Amino acid sequence: MTSSTKRIVILISGSGSNMVNLVEHCQADRIPGEVVAVIANVPTAAGLDKASALGIATQALSHKDFESREAYDAALADCVESYQPDVVVLAGFMRILTPKFVSRFAGRAVNIHPSLLPKYKGLHTHQRALENGDEEHGVSVHFVTEELDGGPVVLQAKIPVFEGDTVEDLQARVHEQEYRIYPLVVRWLCTERLVLGEDGAYLDGDKLGPSGYAAD
Ligand code: GAR
Repeated sequence: MTSSTKRIVILISGSGSNMVNLVEHCQADRIPGEVVAVIANVPTAAGLDKASALGIATQALSHKDFESREAYDAALADCVESYQPDVVVLAGFMRILTPKFVSRFAGRAVNIHPSLLPKYKGLHTHQRALENGDEEHGVSVHFVTEELDGGPVVLQAKIPVFEGDTVEDLQARVHEQEYRIYPLVVRWLCTERLVLGEDGAYLDGDKLGPSGYAAD
């Protein structure tokens, strides 16, 4: 690892396909980072085996072994910190984080959320887009702040919704876009082009708008 290579810790809860995609980008030097650990709150998360197969250290830290959210988040934060990360990536990590956890990694942590934020914070985003008859849906990458799915958006990608689409159709279309945009954002963070300021996200010194980076 060179001095400009950033240490990345990825948090997952499930299949970890975004995690695998990010690891592959790092291993192919498309991101100047090394994924130093993958941590899951679900011990049976399929992504843990995938990370091991890629040669990444893994940890399972079950929230069920803790009496409170605060106690779990303190242990999780210590576990994350033990890997001395420059960047913390939430990739399908399905837990609300306490302000204390968030403040320990402020400006270093990003999340990917399967909706065009600020629409559909929380769960079941594809179902809600279908129920509302949306013609357009998508995915957002944002900085992690105390507000659930409410931190400054860095990048979004849109997908069309076609008549007869199912949740699985949207999920697959969103995943394709996730594999495209998450590596870009992680690269921006690792190259320090992307910074969280007092009043929002900045890329190359320019403040990003409510929908994040928009190519001209
Ligand atoms: C992704 O679609 C991600 O956007 C979503 O979970 C999926 C994880 O897939 N995240 C959330 O819903 C966070 N609230 P993966 O495990 O295959 O990367």
